[in-house]
Amino acid sequence: MRLEYRKTRVCENIEISNGIFKLAVEKSPVEKPVPGQFMMLRTTGYEPFLSRPISIHNVDGEKLYFVFEVRGNGTRNLSRLKKDEEIEMLGPLGNGFQIENIKGRVAILSGGMGIAPMNYLAKSLMDCEIDLYAGFRNEIYGVDSIKRYVNNVNISTEDGSVGLKGYVTEMLNPLEYDVVLCCGPEIMMKKVVQSCNDKSVPVYISMEKHMACGVGACLVCTCKTKEGNKRTCKDGPVFSGRDVIFDD
Ligand SMILES: Cc1cc2nc3c(=O)[nH]c(=O)nc-3n(C[C@H](O)[C@H](O)[C@H](O)COP(=O)(O)OP(=O)(O)OC[C@H]3O[C@@H](n4cnc5c(N)ncnc54)[C@H](O)[C@@H]3O)c2cc1C
Ligand code: FES
Repeated sequence: MRLEYRKTRVCENIEISNGIFKLAVEKSPVEKPVPGQFMMLRTTGYEPFLSRPISIHNVDGEKLYFVFEVRGNGTRNLSRLKKDEEIEMLGPLGNGFQIENIKGRVAILSGGMGIAPMNYLAKSLMDCEIDLYAGFRNEIYGVDSIKRYVNNVNISTEDGSVGLKGYVTEMLNPLEYDVVLCCGPEIMMKKVVQSCNDKSVPVYISMEKHMACGVGACLVCTCKTKEGNKRTCKDGPVFSGRDVIFDD
């Protein structure tokens, strides 16, 4: 893969929920991404020029899709992009989920924006029976597109407005699954990993660390593992739950 940003065009950028955007860009000559990989995205028309890691949400024909939440300047700039404007991207980057080794009964767990990479993941899994567990604070988003690829959808919200009132982790019994795949806030993933490790169920998690270069050069994205410090951008973002050491 060429480690340089390439310019492409925005096909659409729609606000699908409050502060949550779905962005489609022309794929340009991008190699087929592995689910769980991400792109560094940056706008050239809006200052400051910040590159931000965003997961691949879908690949469809000649378009790449992303779902993102406006958090600060980088994602605010992305939200301003309009059809036919230019965007620069680098990737696909990182190590994604090893889908060829995932078979049988699969639980996909997401917390909040952790739903973003799960659509492309569920779409890519073969010979699997998939249950989705998706947790949100209140408003739900990103679930409609994934429904067609999974057998069951279980939703939780902290305010109880949709689905179970509480945390998504309360719905999962790891013993019902051959493997658990998870993306969300670190505190949630820590719980899921503990629960799966206790029951000897394999679990793979996609870590969300702050990133600067996205290609393994700056060490901003360090993740502690049993084999020493790893770079989330280059060695991850997907790690085995057996290896990651969470902060207390
Ligand atoms: C591999 C990877 C994939 C990601 N995929 C997506 C995605 O598909 N959709 C999406 O909306 N977001 C995703 N993120 C998170 C996204 O990159 C950050 O929200 C974004 O970089 C924030 O940039 P900003 O300039 O808008 O905000 P900043 O001003 O940089 O930060 C705003 C706030 O968000 C917090 N923050 C920033 N980055 C992170 C992070 N990585 N983890 C936790 N908190 C953070 C900051 O502490 C601050 O409170 C991903 C992150 C990683 C590492
Ligand atoms: S973001 Fe620079 S090493 Fe990971």
